[in-house]
Amino acid sequence: MKSILKSIHSGKEYSLDDIRFTSDDGELLDVIHDLDAIKKQHNISREYFLRKRALLNGQPTGGVWHFKEMVLPAIPDEQVVSKQEGNTRLYRNKKIASWLGLKFDRFFLKHEGENPTGSFKDRGMTAAITMAKALHQRAVTCASTGNTSASLAAFASEAELTGIVLIPKGNVAVGKISQALAYGTKTLIVNGDFDDCMRLIREAQEKLQAYPLNSINPFRIEGQKTIIWETLMQLNWQVPDWFVFPGGNLGNTSAFGKALFEAYELGLIDRMPRFAVIQAEGASPFYKAYKNNFKEIKKEKADTIATAIKIGDPVNYTKAVRSLKWTNGIVESVTDEEILEAKAHVDAAGIGAEPASCATVAGVKKLLSSGEFKPNETIVGILTGNVLKDPQVIVDYHFNRKTSLANPPHDIEASIDELKKFL
Ligand code: F0G
Repeated sequence: MKSILKSIHSGKEYSLDDIRFTSDDGELLDVIHDLDAIKKQHNISREYFLRKRALLNGQPTGGVWHFKEMVLPAIPDEQVVSKQEGNTRLYRNKKIASWLGLKFDRFFLKHEGENPTGSFKDRGMTAAITMAKALHQRAVTCASTGNTSASLAAFASEAELTGIVLIPKGNVAVGKISQALAYGTKTLIVNGDFDDCMRLIREAQEKLQAYPLNSINPFRIEGQKTIIWETLMQLNWQVPDWFVFPGGNLGNTSAFGKALFEAYELGLIDRMPRFAVIQAEGASPFYKAYKNNFKEIKKEKADTIATAIKIGDPVNYTKAVRSLKWTNGIVESVTDEEILEAKAHVDAAGIGAEPASCATVAGVKKLLSSGEFKPNETIVGILTGNVLKDPQVIVDYHFNRKTSLANPPHDIEASIDELKKFL
């Protein structure tokens, strides 16, 4: 019952211990598990996971490792490096649903910003850093628009590995860079954009054998699959019509497709939901490729206020296209203005999320008004990062905008009469 690495293109197989991120033909690698054997050994079923959860009496399960059988089955429990990531909330919210024109009980927001370091990256990181340890790596690296570096920094500290992160100069939100510094990782500010950082990381892997924890690392994808499985479990395995989420480097798009493919193979679901991947208009190479029937993807110089997804050359493109084919998925793009408007609504509902996450909600709005989504469909949106990640965008909005949701502070003297005016 061995898992292997397999080229997504040629099908060439490699051992899981082989430290490589592409096949000989340069394609990305999948982790392939022996699903039949896993299913038989554990008697995998919807009830199996629900029962496992019930047995814990509401104690945190460490969400990712609740599904260990289908993430890294061969790793001994004591070797897992975990910060109890996952187990994130699935919100329903009247204010946001009503703004969108959706039924309260048909619209869900899975908040991955409520992970230990404030983003979904922790789900991939726990799996990939566990493998880095198992493979006796000493130095782990990543290129990042901020969240991966924050997550790597925290997990490298936990695992006692040397962490080095590359971030593009002037383009990382203050909350994220603060985390990398605070958790004690070496932070290199690169005079270039995210795509330059990514290129450098791939070169460092080849030439310096530095172990990359970006989503080219197939174990990152394995951890991120659990976002989908956990959501399905929270919905009592009822499959929604749509999963909507932002696309940048397209790691989630790849992971979510694999999660559903495997859930289907294991008999956990009997139909596939559809994907809607949302990109920022100024960073939308995947959207443009989709419009072109995926004939080709053209790199672009990315620009958007949602710095997390300011990516013009997504490394997981091929896997992401496969995910869209499996799910009859679509790609949409939204403007920065639409992202900010959606963010004002998500924030004012008391939930809050960083700009890239709110591309999800802006996308739902747009797809409802174009008629692609029907008001009676069940929609799950993924919020990928915490509201505190990018405070500058919030302050700029509320101090400078004249919209109905702008909520600037007021200066008052320390007197009860002045306070009274606001009650
Ligand atoms: N949302 C947030 C908050 C992100 O940080 C990212 C990616 C995405 C969405 C896009 O996800 O790459 O899987 O398509 N952030 C990476 C980083 C690139 O370095 O933190 P994706």
